Amino acid sequence: MNKNGFAKQNFDKEGFMNLRRMLCAVCVFQLAFTVVCAAQETTIKKVPMKHVAAYSGESMYANYCAVCHGNNGKGNGPAAKALKIVPPDLTRLAKQNNGKFPDAHVYTVIRGDSNEPTAHGAKDMPLWGALFAESSAAIPPDVDVHQRISNLTRYVASIQKN
Ligand code: HEC
Repeated sequence: MNKNGFAKQNFDKEGFMNLRRMLCAVCVFQLAFTVVCAAQETTIKKVPMKHVAAYSGESMYANYCAVCHGNNGKGNGPAAKALKIVPPDLTRLAKQNNGKFPDAHVYTVIRGDSNEPTAHGAKDMPLWGALFAESSAAIPPDVDVHQRISNLTRYVASIQKN
């Protein structure tokens, strides 16, 4: 093969690579577009709860809470736009409470069985206590539910900002 032929072959190979990269970019764009479209609609599709280990507050948060409260807890999850009440910024709960993280309040709100005015169940937030009880294999499920809600509370405490 002469020098030009070799160069041409390289060019073709590179051209093919560019094409592949372009196709990938289109796919990613379409995917992103679908997500954006879905987020602009005002409905939330309820899907069966995914099983996530009770010991990790972080992964329970990512799977159960981030859709509304955002990955960073700021309240900007993809479902937030579809809610009547904007999900609160969970990183400022300590600051709003004179610097002390309100453990008991957060635990009760997540559990969802209180009469507090901000209790989720009455409004937009799911009743996690009942959902965790239903999905638990333990009989009775109380210890499991408590562990999940405590670990979620501890995780929310860990993402506080000043
Ligand atoms: C479907 C959306 C949605 C999901 C999912 C959700 N929340 Fe909420 N959350 C809300 C909304 C909306 C509020 C505002 C008050 C209300 O509706 O009761 C709220 C309020 C809260 C509050 C009270 C904050 C305050 O200012 O007192 C806490 C704490 C909280 N959520 C934690 C969580 C945790 C932890 C999870 C996951 C286990 C979760 N949320 C999942 C929508 C959601």
